[in-house]
Amino acid sequence: MNLSRRDLNRAALWLALAGCTAPLAACAQPAPRWRSNPFTLGVASGQPRPDSVVLWTRLLPEAEDEAARNALPACSVRYEIYVDAALQRLVMQGEVVTDASRAFSVHVHATGLAPQRDYWYRFRCGDAQSPVGRTRTAPAPDAQLRRLRFALASCQNYEHGFYAAHREIAGRELDFVLFVGDYIYEGSSANPEMRRHGAPIPHTLEGYRERHALYKRDADLQAAHAAHPWILTWDDHEVVNDYAGDRDPAYTEPALFLRRRAAAYRAYFEHMPLALPPQGAAMRIHERHVWGNLAELWTLDCRQHRSHHACADPAHDSGRGVIGCAELADPARTMLGAEQSRWFAQGLADSRRQWKLFGQSTQMSSTARDTPQGRQTWTDGWDGYPEARRQLFQGIADAGVKDVVALGGDVHRHVAADLRVRPNDPGSAVVASEFVGGSISSRGASQAAMARMRRDNPDVVHARGDERGYALMEVTPEAMQCEFRATAHPVPADASFYTQARFVVEAGRAGVLPA
Ligand SMILES: [Fe+2]
Repeated sequence: MNLSRRDLNRAALWLALAGCTAPLAACAQPAPRWRSNPFTLGVASGQPRPDSVVLWTRLLPEAEDEAARNALPACSVRYEIYVDAALQRLVMQGEVVTDASRAFSVHVHATGLAPQRDYWYRFRCGDAQSPVGRTRTAPAPDAQLRRLRFALASCQNYEHGFYAAHREIAGRELDFVLFVGDYIYEGSSANPEMRRHGAPIPHTLEGYRERHALYKRDADLQAAHAAHPWILTWDDHEVVNDYAGDRDPAYTEPALFLRRRAAAYRAYFEHMPLALPPQGAAMRIHERHVWGNLAELWTLDCRQHRSHHACADPAHDSGRGVIGCAELADPARTMLGAEQSRWFAQGLADSRRQWKLFGQSTQMSSTARDTPQGRQTWTDGWDGYPEARRQLFQGIADAGVKDVVALGGDVHRHVAADLRVRPNDPGSAVVASEFVGGSISSRGASQAAMARMRRDNPDVVHARGDERGYALMEVTPEAMQCEFRATAHPVPADASFYTQARFVVEAGRAGVLPA
């Protein structure tokens, strides 16, 4: 980090205020006294394993402290992990150094923890202390587990509504939150319904950092992070709407777009409880998690490795409806990329755990429309990668894998659906089940549009796009239950939720049933 003379003067002044009078080099990690609490973005935990979890925070002081912090070469942040909510029994502590190169974010990969156990944690920097977070490790891989509960959430456009759903999630007893994408939105509305981004579309690291910080300042979102560990994957809006691999909708020169993608991925990492930072424009987000003998959960990356849209139109290469597009049938076109596809197919075939769950960005069941000119396909969803979807489901059928459930987001609707090798064909057996968890705040389609979608796609058993919310999942050896929690759009800060519908998947029998 290069410090200007002005920065050094500011730092020296601030260090003097903080009680350090030695030369700057000797005070690389002073114990600051803050004018206001710098833990303005809260705390988070994620990637729960039987013996570890990732703890996160970021120092983002208010304006009165920020200039001084930015003039420092580094800050030392202390973490403490307890086994009781009263913070009486400390079991682990340590110190990490963070600096401006990582936006003063802190990632602690806490290892050596006990399985299936609650922990409470907090951070300290100088005389400031963070809010307290609760987290929970996964059970031992061979544990005979009777129940797993989690929330499925996605799509929290800040301008479209408040995060009351996160407040409800924070108050639930859950093992984790599964968030499947559109954590931030890069674009802004011409007519924002509830709140404003108040900043231009981000293209740079600084721009994406500011957007993440805006979202993370929300108290309800902070509460959901502080209450539960999160397991995350992303969709498109973490970078730009409807991007596909190295191509954005504007057909930006790929090398240039990859620079923007690298900035977006880096800002994403800096704000999430994740263990692995990006390497330039590449970042591994797909993961496998295990819940005893009861369930395996894969998170998939449906953006970074996908083929470009089929029948792309340089004048309009965001997702679009196409009819009679022969390129759709090309078996080489991929949604997950060759390596991730192999990894996931092999994992499914090898799994000896009962439930095989996978969190991915969007809706897997078909949403195509019957028109007088033929069937119209939306190119940005799984319908735009039909051969990749067919290969995945054929692999499940061929290997005889039972109890597979897809968990998705992106489409801003609650969906329960049956998944077949050939969508909507009664002659093709149901091989898996699907739930889409609605959207936390992002606007969705009308009931009329959903009725039409269901008419043209009988595999979709339930679809409501007019309400916002999330899904509560409860997994037992006998069944997996999904409860759609919902409220009217747009969501005010004090919204309350009701149960829109309940569905169940019975063990050994693919397909969704009303519960
Ligand atoms: Fe979305």
